[in-house]
Amino acid sequence: MAFPVTRLRRLRQNEIFRAMVRETEVDCDDLIMPYFVCPGTGVKNPINSMPGNYQWSVDLLVEEVKDLVEKAGINKILLFGIPEHKDETGEVACHEDAIVPRAIRALRKEINNLLIVADVCNCEYTTHGHCGTIIDGDVNNDLTLKTLSEQSLTLARAGADIIAPSDMMDGRVAAIREMLDENGFSNTPIMAYSAKFASAFYGPFRDAAESAPKFGNRRTYQMDPANGNEALREVEEDIVEGADMVMVKPALSYLDVIRRVKDNYNMPLVAYNVSGEFSMVKAAAANGWIDESRIINEILTSIKRAGADVIITYHAKEFGLLKRAKK
Ligand code: PBG
Repeated sequence: MAFPVTRLRRLRQNEIFRAMVRETEVDCDDLIMPYFVCPGTGVKNPINSMPGNYQWSVDLLVEEVKDLVEKAGINKILLFGIPEHKDETGEVACHEDAIVPRAIRALRKEINNLLIVADVCNCEYTTHGHCGTIIDGDVNNDLTLKTLSEQSLTLARAGADIIAPSDMMDGRVAAIREMLDENGFSNTPIMAYSAKFASAFYGPFRDAAESAPKFGNRRTYQMDPANGNEALREVEEDIVEGADMVMVKPALSYLDVIRRVKDNYNMPLVAYNVSGEFSMVKAAAANGWIDESRIINEILTSIKRAGADVIITYHAKEFGLLKRAKK
């Protein structure tokens, strides 16, 4: 049937019609809010390149997350740590009194109904800023599996609900799964950063987490942004090794990858709307160039429409507050 019998505008004539036929709606339950936790007390250190985001000491993080849950209706967080000291391999993150385990225990004690995802990686904890142990100028894959699985166990012991490795070493999902299972955490899911690209969109995050590599770049372990087929192989590897959820990261320049993963694998799919994507919106909004709340809604809707079930986003709290204000 064609025009004039078909008129697609009929179902767009007012908001009641539009809401009735709307295919995709982002819900607070879909969102995870990332936080950066640092040593000290009473610290709320603004991250200049990510307006509205801070390095929080544990005490203030607990208050902030209470606010997130109660006022914004968001009940899932992702934690990154800024340690007191760094070392060569990231072992500092494997101790039970490391910064993120400390934060997890405090949050667990003070807040109910909160899902805590713990990012697992070495880049915040190594002096050189790379995601693993360096041998001959490059990250050694198999040695790094040791620190990753030890860090994962420490985080699970502290009370993390989900372990999320973001390092891109081969075999890390299997190594972490084995470590968790051997130590009584067979019920702790792994959310694998499966197709993580070597992206310039991580720039602001590296200020926030103080994790920029001191030499070279991450292109021997993170993926080439040009490769979609390889992304599917990465996802498949992680599924075979036992990942419970898979992730595509960043989100906006990789919506095609999100769609392909969703169409090819019957898995819960996470997309990470990363720091650079967030900061570009903030910069344009600060200049009055865009309508920020509409842009946020459109961005998150597009990521979900592409196939993501869950979205990690620095917009989560604002989105939750906006949603509540509308009701
Ligand atoms: C750690 C990690 C990074 C991000 C999440 N985990 C940075 C990186 O790989 O350099 C980026 C998140 C963001 O940009 O918001 N490996």
